[in-house]
Amino acid sequence: MSRLILDSSNPPEPGHVLWRSPSNIALIKYWGKYGVQLPKNPSLSLTLAASCTDTQLNYELRKGPDDGQIDLDFFFHEEENEAFRAKVLEFLTSLLPEMPFLKQLKLTVHTGNSFPHSAGIASSASGMSALALCLCSLEDRFFGTLKDPEAFDQRASVLARLGSGSACRSIFPHAALWGATPLVPGSSDEFAVPMGDHIHETFKDFHDDILIVSQEEKSVSSRAGHALMEGNPYAEPRYAQARTRLSSLLDAMRTGELPEFGKIVEDEALTLHALMMCSNPSYTLMRPDSLAIIEKVRQYRADTGHQVYFTLDAGPNVHLLYPGELVVDVRKFIDDHLAEHCEGGFVQQDWVGEGPEEI
Ligand code: PMV
Repeated sequence: MSRLILDSSNPPEPGHVLWRSPSNIALIKYWGKYGVQLPKNPSLSLTLAASCTDTQLNYELRKGPDDGQIDLDFFFHEEENEAFRAKVLEFLTSLLPEMPFLKQLKLTVHTGNSFPHSAGIASSASGMSALALCLCSLEDRFFGTLKDPEAFDQRASVLARLGSGSACRSIFPHAALWGATPLVPGSSDEFAVPMGDHIHETFKDFHDDILIVSQEEKSVSSRAGHALMEGNPYAEPRYAQARTRLSSLLDAMRTGELPEFGKIVEDEALTLHALMMCSNPSYTLMRPDSLAIIEKVRQYRADTGHQVYFTLDAGPNVHLLYPGELVVDVRKFIDDHLAEHCEGGFVQQDWVGEGPEEI
C-alpha cells in the first residue's frame, strides 16, 4: 500500500477531477450491518437519474511538513459547510492507510446536489459515490492502478461503501446488488455488482417519483437504525426473509413480472418500517401522510389495474415506482390526489438511469 505515495521531487501539477453520481432506491433493503460497514443481508436497488450529486475535487501538492492530517477545504453549493466537511474529513482520514497520498495534497471539494437541499431526499448515496469516484480517478491519475474499468468500478464501490453503505450500489447503471449471495456469482459484501444485464427491459424504463411528505431531518439516523437491529428480536428471521425475497425478486425482474415485483417491493418497504417500530427503543419514521399515500396507491391500482407500486427509504417520503408507459396517467394521479400529502406539494421526479459520469 505504501506504493501510493507521491514523489515530491516530481510533484503532479495542480488539477481537478469531477464526477456526477446518482442516488439509488433499494428494492430489497439493507438494514443491519456488521464489521466495517458490511451488510447482514444482500440488497438490490435501481439506480436513479435525476437525483444526483456533482463533486469536484481540486488538488495540489501541499506545502510545509507532513503533519499526518488531511488538508481539506469544503464547499457545499459554494458555501463552506462545517458539518459536511467534518463528515468527509472523517471518511478521508479513515482511507489514509490505503491512500496515504491524500495527506500529501491540499484538497478542495466543491459539491452540490441536483435536488433542493433539505428536501428530505437522502444525499449520502449520491454524495459518497461521487466522492469515491473522484478518489479513484485521482489514484488512477497519479499511480495508474485502475486502468481496467471493472477494477475501477469495484474499487469505487468499496470506497463508497465505506462512506455510506448504500452508496456502493450507485456506481452501476440501471440496477445493482450488494452483498454475497449464491444467487449472483461474483457478488460480495465488500462491493456492489452491476445487475443491468439480469433485468427485463421494462425496468430500465422505470420511473421513481419521490413524494416529499416531510423535509425535516430524520429523528433517528440510519446509522442509529442499523445499530438498533443488534437487539431486535426479529433481526435473524428478517435477514433470512431478505434472502428469500431476493431470490423471488430476481426471478420477477428477469421475466418482467410486475405484480410479483410490486408485491415484494411493497412488502420490503413495510418490513423496513416494521423493524423500526419494533426496535428497542421503538420509533416511527412514517407519517400519517405516508400512510394516506400508500392507501391511495393501493386503491388506484385496484381501480385502474395500473402497475404502480410504492417503496420507502428510512424516512417518511414515498417513492412511486412504475413503468414509463404510465407516466402521463400516474403524474395526473399524483397531481390530483397525492401532491396534497406532500410538503409544499413537492415531488421529485426521477427514473432509472445510466449511472455516474465523469464530467
Ligand atoms: O446507507 P445507509 O447506512 O444510509 O443505509 C440506508 C438503508 C436504507 O436506505 C434504508 C435501505 C437501503 O438499502 O438503501
